[in-house]
Amino acid sequence: MVKIVIENLGQKEVPVTRPDWPVLRHLQEHQIDWMHACGAKGRCTTCRMKVLQGGDSLGPVTPAEQKYRKAGLLREDERLACQAVVTANLVIRVPDDSKLPHLNYTD
Ligand code: FES
Repeated sequence: MVKIVIENLGQKEVPVTRPDWPVLRHLQEHQIDWMHACGAKGRCTTCRMKVLQGGDSLGPVTPAEQKYRKAGLLREDERLACQAVVTANLVIRVPDDSKLPHLNYTD
């Protein structure tokens, strides 16, 4: 089974059930709170995720992500969860400045 592992949410595992969905949609399907201020439209960077493993298997960097990379708002090891389509195993972290105050994050 293909899965997303969120390292700093206690190694939480989320199954990938649809190869055409972005990461954020999978997280939402499994009731995982993840910041997404613009409503998953690619117009902010609050849904950023740091990609630790499996980045090569994500869909191509989208125009929205390219724009934020050029502006220095999205690092090379980060993707937007609302834009990046996941098709293979992925290990991610929530960046410090995208953490939600009501969740307890692990190291
Ligand atoms: S939720 Fe705004 S860019 Fe992803």
